[in-house]
Amino acid sequence: MAMRRLVAAALLACVLLPMASVRGRNITAILDGYKEYKLYNKYLSETKVCDEINSRQSTSMSILVLSNDAMTTLASDAGDSLPAIKNALRLHSVLDYYDRKKVKKYGDESAATLFQATGDAAAATGNVKVVDQDDKNYGFSAATPGARICTVTKEVETHPFKFAILEVTAPIEFDGLFDTPAIANLTLLLERAGCKVFAALAVKTGVLKTYEDAMDKGLTLFAPNDDAFQAKDAPDVKAMSVANLTKLLQYNALPAYNTKTSLKFVKGSLPTMAGTKAAVKVVAKGDDVSIDTGKAKSRVADTVVDSVPFCLMTLDSLLVPPELYVGAVEAPAPAPADAPQASPPAADAPSVPADHAADHKTKKAAKSSAVAARPIGALAAACSVVLASLLL
Ligand SMILES: *[C@@H]1O[C@H](CO)[C@@H](O)[C@H](O)[C@H]1NC(C)=O
Ligand SMILES: *[C@@H]1O[C@H](CO)[C@@H](O)[C@H](O)[C@H]1NC(C)=O
Ligand SMILES: *[C@@H]1O[C@H](CO)[C@@H](O)[C@H](O)[C@H]1NC(C)=O
Repeated sequence: MAMRRLVAAALLACVLLPMASVRGRNITAILDGYKEYKLYNKYLSETKVCDEINSRQSTSMSILVLSNDAMTTLASDAGDSLPAIKNALRLHSVLDYYDRKKVKKYGDESAATLFQATGDAAAATGNVKVVDQDDKNYGFSAATPGARICTVTKEVETHPFKFAILEVTAPIEFDGLFDTPAIANLTLLLERAGCKVFAALAVKTGVLKTYEDAMDKGLTLFAPNDDAFQAKDAPDVKAMSVANLTKLLQYNALPAYNTKTSLKFVKGSLPTMAGTKAAVKVVAKGDDVSIDTGKAKSRVADTVVDSVPFCLMTLDSLLVPPELYVGAVEAPAPAPADAPQASPPAADAPSVPADHAADHKTKKAAKSSAVAARPIGALAAACSVVLASLLL
């Protein structure tokens, strides 16, 4: 009897343990379970702040959520501008764990937020204050003097010292929170980012207009810097026909909003503006993100502008559509002559599984995923032993 119970427990562990260790914390999936935060969750996804939260698996966090009514107020205060809403959602993502017990024990504190960590916010305004109120109450406010305190009305989920979801009465706001970068002139933006050659080609081919038309619908623009055009394997753009240049420029853009962080979570291939067949893949290793054309990889250097639904990032090298690629061809492997163009994933650059893509150092990430893999392997072996003994 006792033996059978032990076997049952072992079996249950076999099923549950790997699930728990494989599944990362996914804020979207968690909030899907709460109808009252539906609007909040929708904006988290649209602005991709969910990916910023999910990429910090090893950071203690408290997400200050708003009911549908309070979220409507926030959206209206932000003038229904997605970049402005993104600022606010980042401010509501606190980079420390809080619950009633902790606040009552330690009292008022200042806490950093994602707004400060990832935005252009001046250090102090990106903070929130944690305030110990009367009785059992506590709340959060902007760091500015005299800011209103938004009381925590519900501890939705608390996982001590790791992760909390706390509902606050009203949005935390301050003067300047909704300020967003002006992006009136794309050419100027590209030139200032050190992408003069790319900007000139976009003007010359008229692709600039395609980009501009997509900026308010969804556009991720990968702009190669001026040095990229000097690289040994870069095509000679001066000798290229306008048709081929156009294709090249369209290939450096995605018709959807992505950020450097959200790219880490992409599974499969991403269509570019050069057509659904002209797709690229993402290779992510810790904080490093590269775009893979199948022939070559380009590292994403900097984010120049993130203004939902438009994001401009610079690249260290040009993304060249495979059919226009003339660069250093990889050593002709003994592959069948009629092999399709799609090359196998490079063995030297394993992509980080999306739900484990933590934003800490590459080495650390590689080590921890290796460590995580071993117990799972051992567990699988143990499971088969248990199963085998049951079948006998
Ligand atoms: C998180 O959950 C959402 C909704 O449940 C899902 O669409 C998304 O792919 C998940 N993200 C990751 C990284 O697993
Ligand atoms: C945008 O900036 C470029 C480069 O400085 C300039 O040539 C162009 O006239 C500007 N366009 C508009 C519409 O202001
Ligand atoms: C575009 O490039 C391809 C590959 O280099 C070449 O075969 C083709 O002739 C070019 N097209 C034009 C219109 O120049």
